[in-house]
Amino acid sequence: MAQRFSDEFLTELHMRCDIEQTISSYVQLKRRGKNLVGLCPFHNEKTPSFTVYPDSQSYFCFGCGAGGEVINFIRRAENLDFYEAVRFLCDRYSLVMPSDGVDDSLAVKRKRMYEINKEAARFFNSCLFTEEGKAGLEYFKSRGYKKSTITKFGMGYAPNDWRKLLNHLREKGYSYEEAYEANLANKSEKDGRVSFYDSFRNRVMVPIIDARGNVVAFGGRVLDDSKPKYINTSDTLIYKKSLGVFGLNFAKNSTDKSLILVEGYMDAISLHQAGFTNAIACLGTALTGEMAHLLSRYADEIILSYDADEAGQKATQRAIGIFNSIGMKIRVVHLTGGKDPDEILRKYGPERFQSLVDGAANDIEFAIVRLRGQYDLQTSDGKMKFLEKAAEVLAGLSSKIPQEIYASRLSEELGVSKQSIMIRIEQLARRKQTSEKKQYFTKIQQQAMTENTKEAVASGTNIKAIKAEQMLIAALMKNPEFYERMKDSLKKEDFTVAEHVRLFEVITEKIDDRRALELTLFSQELTAEQMNLLVKICKQNEGLNFGLTVCADCVSVMREEKIKKQQLPSIESLSDEEFAALFKNKK
Ligand code: UTP
Ligand code: MN
Repeated sequence: MAQRFSDEFLTELHMRCDIEQTISSYVQLKRRGKNLVGLCPFHNEKTPSFTVYPDSQSYFCFGCGAGGEVINFIRRAENLDFYEAVRFLCDRYSLVMPSDGVDDSLAVKRKRMYEINKEAARFFNSCLFTEEGKAGLEYFKSRGYKKSTITKFGMGYAPNDWRKLLNHLREKGYSYEEAYEANLANKSEKDGRVSFYDSFRNRVMVPIIDARGNVVAFGGRVLDDSKPKYINTSDTLIYKKSLGVFGLNFAKNSTDKSLILVEGYMDAISLHQAGFTNAIACLGTALTGEMAHLLSRYADEIILSYDADEAGQKATQRAIGIFNSIGMKIRVVHLTGGKDPDEILRKYGPERFQSLVDGAANDIEFAIVRLRGQYDLQTSDGKMKFLEKAAEVLAGLSSKIPQEIYASRLSEELGVSKQSIMIRIEQLARRKQTSEKKQYFTKIQQQAMTENTKEAVASGTNIKAIKAEQMLIAALMKNPEFYERMKDSLKKEDFTVAEHVRLFEVITEKIDDRRALELTLFSQELTAEQMNLLVKICKQNEGLNFGLTVCADCVSVMREEKIKKQQLPSIESLSDEEFAALFKNKK
């Protein structure tokens, strides 16, 4: 009977059965940068081309093309099927193998973890109102937080003590180990003796509450200027930091169709207190496409209001790109008079911030404003350079109307004819497309020459189309958000290689279910060969970074190929010569 394991179980398995450690008992590995290399156990070689990637918990051999994740490795190395390989790893790393596909132990564990976090939040909050928590309460007061705000967000204080929280949790029936797994406690080992101690000490505490209202993590801030400013819960069974959003539990109920995205917890709290109930903060990690997707479920528009410093502006640029790529509307608040929203509110009050939001520029205006600041428009040289850069920005737009609008404005501002600005924009747009295309064709040719043509021969498809299919698969793995934009123009029937159809199916199912696209989570839906192929495709296209235009090109290459194939007479009706000719121009 085929058994299904949950994503959570597989994630846990990959966490415990670290690929580096597991493979080390089969292959002697040497570190090379971030990765490790060794002699491939699956073919004979004298120089190492077998590479292990701890980051993605995968391996790939550039010599023979073998690749996969840890389960796939064990399947090959020990000659086992998927289920046996999972059992093998569970035995080796003392993991409990879930029975009947229903993973009870994990569900129970997760439930306990929600409870222990809630209990900890209650504890931290109550400490604020005791003698030893006084400093914490004073700190919040000094930043202008009202009692009602503190209660609403469940803010608190972690005492300056090694075991206060642990003792409290123990009294409530939780073990040290449970506190440790929830990241509320740390563990130290000395002379074979293990001891636990509180993770958060002498910090004001901000619970992170998920959209369903569960406390899933904490941020703890120092009361002074010491470092690190914040300690945060790292990933646990119930929390993935890269997808953590602060304030979404409140913001999702806001009547606004937009979300104000800020950098810091404190900014978000201050905004809520000032009446901006649609404020959220992403938690210190760089914004990802996955995160942008998550937010797009709650709002039509994002109002970016990162810090005014250089780092904040860089992050803004990045965020604009990401939200653009999933087709989400965005506007950017240009903060003046303060370094972050919190400071603006404190110095000038809510009306000022409201007027900044009202005047927030869309992403194009924002980019142009930034450029304008970099050149001296009093000189003709400065004007020309500014115009050139602005034209480059506009050339990146996919639609003509905004190009026309901004060209008009620039023309008025700089006294250059609109027509000549438009001509320049169009030139640059063409150049950009050509260079993307060139990158794509060079890559295809390179690969076609070095690659074996197994798939080609098997399916009778030409190499160009195969590469196009593979590049699309790689692009989707990297940018799941592309799928939304391509859904209407890309169907599984467009793929000609059967294995590619399967990969496309599994990937898009995951995207539709909003599950993670980590390589480690594909092993049970795919056969060992398909898994191998997926890793191969990802590795071979790793360096490629292209947008939707090239993806669309891939689709047209595939379509052409499909049509050609349909016009092909069936093999039986061919003469021997015609049959032989089919293979002549294959290579
Ligand atoms: P900030 O330094 O801007 O923090 O970092 P803040 O929340 O605005 O705090 P105040 O107003 O200075 O007190 C922005 C975010 O980056 C993460 C936190 O999520 C923080 O809210 N961060 C920052 C950390 O995780 N660790 C740090 O040491 C610093
Ligand atoms: Mn800040």
